Amino acid sequence: MATRTQSRPANSSRSGQSRSSSSRGKNSGSDSSSSSSTSGSSSRDRSAFSWGDNAGPLLGAALAGAAIGFAANYGRKALMQGMEAMTGDWDEILAAEHDMALGVLDKMLATDSTQTFKRKMLLMKLTHALDKHSHQEEMVVYPALRDANEAVDADHLEGEHGYIKTFIYDLNEMGPDSPAWLDKVREFRQLVASHAHMEEEDVFPRFKQELSEEQNSRITSLVNRDGFWMA
Ligand SMILES: [Fe+2]
Ligand SMILES: [Fe+2]
Repeated sequence: MATRTQSRPANSSRSGQSRSSSSRGKNSGSDSSSSSSTSGSSSRDRSAFSWGDNAGPLLGAALAGAAIGFAANYGRKALMQGMEAMTGDWDEILAAEHDMALGVLDKMLATDSTQTFKRKMLLMKLTHALDKHSHQEEMVVYPALRDANEAVDADHLEGEHGYIKTFIYDLNEMGPDSPAWLDKVREFRQLVASHAHMEEEDVFPRFKQELSEEQNSRITSLVNRDGFWMA
C-alpha cells in the first residue's frame, strides 16, 4: 500500500524512503536626583533623561504605535493559528506542514542559477516554516514520546532536525548562485521526505494509537499553542 509520503510527487528527488540511514549520525537609570542647582527649578537643570513638558503626547503616540504593532502581529498570528486549528489533530497539522515544506523544496529544485533572488526568498520561507515546525515537535511531541517510552525514536528524530538545520546553514553559506546549490537542495529534500515518512507512517501513528482522546486533544492544543507563538 502506498503510504502518504511515498505517494507524494517527488520532483526529481527520491522521496518516500523509509527511515533515513543513520549515516548522518544520526541600560540603566540616570542620575536624575541632581538637585544641586542653586538657581532652583530651571529646566536647564533637568537630567538629560528626564521627559520634557510636552512629552505626554509623544509618549502617547509611541505607546499607540506599539499597540498597533502588537495588534497587527497578534492578528497575523491569530489568522495563522485559526488556519492551523482547522486542520485537525496534531499529527494532521504536522503532516500538512511536511507537505508545505516539501512543496517549497520542489520549487527550489525548479530554479536555475540565474534566479538568485527567488532562491533566497524560497530558502527564507522554508527556514521559517521548518523553524516553527521543529519547535512544535521538539517542545511538545518529542517530549511526549519520551514520556511514553519512545525515547529512541524521539532522539533519532530530534537528531535529524540538527542535520536539517545544517542544510539550511550550508545553503546560506554557499550562496544561491553556487553550482552545487541544486545538488544540496536535492539531498536536503531527501532527508526531509524520509524524516516526514518516519514520523507520519511509523512513529506518530503508533504513539497516537496509545493516546486517550483527552491526551490526544491535549497534544493538539499544545502543538497549536506552540505554533501560535512561533508564527
Ligand atoms: Fe520532525
Ligand atoms: Fe515533522
